[in-house]
Amino acid sequence: MTRSQRLSDQQVSKKILLLGAPGSGKGTQGARLAHHLCVEHLAVGDLLRAEITSGSELGETIRSKVESGELVSDDLVLELISTRAAQMGEQGYILDGFPRSVVQAERGREVAELADAVPDVVIYLDVPEDVVVERLLARAAIEGRADDNEETVRNRMRVFRESTAPLLAHYEKQGKVRVVDAVGSPDEVTMEILHIVGMSDGK
Ligand code: AP5
Repeated sequence: MTRSQRLSDQQVSKKILLLGAPGSGKGTQGARLAHHLCVEHLAVGDLLRAEITSGSELGETIRSKVESGELVSDDLVLELISTRAAQMGEQGYILDGFPRSVVQAERGREVAELADAVPDVVIYLDVPEDVVVERLLARAAIEGRADDNEETVRNRMRVFRESTAPLLAHYEKQGKVRVVDAVGSPDEVTMEILHIVGMSDGK
């Protein structure tokens, strides 16, 4: 894996995938990067929670998966992404929470190629498991997110290790992975990512 190496001196990368364990900071960094790069932050977890909150029948199907920490179906997530692909290709994006498996990456690539939305870079937010569990249980006490209880957090970590972590090797073969030490403060992590994508001189 390539740690913190800048992508190019010529161009700012604006098609960015954020990969990382639950609680690694994808949502936090996604919002910050979207602001700095003037692109949309697309967080699949937020889209799924919005569907649950809407009270739709589909939302009820999604709820049971999200609240147990399992992945919702590939078809449903692909549908969510596909409806936004054209805009993502045109304006760039910070995509957080997709793909979560090699199968999703392969199916998503077909959609992305058609829309000129293939990612420039995959930022892997590297945080030890004990730190992310601590973060999520702290958030549970403040926000009460239904999947932030200890049992579900452990299951989310298992799903991450089994289904999502293999994506690193998948994207490494394409030379797209940059690893960021995401234990530092949110500001430090943002600076490091901006440096990688060519937006600032960073640290
Ligand atoms: P999702 O909402 O994406 O949850 P997640 O991946 O488990 O990630 P989190 O939102 O918990 O953490 P994060 O990495 O975004 O960190 P955050 O910035 O919030 O997905 C939820 C569920 O939806 C999945 O379990 C699954 O069921 C379903 N789903 C989603 N995508 C899917 C897909 N593609 N296919 C199928 N199913 C899918 O930070 C966490 C906490 O840490 C916050 O309190 C934050 O303030 C704090 N924090 C962040 N950065 C730092 C820092 N540097 N230092 C200290 N604290 C920090």
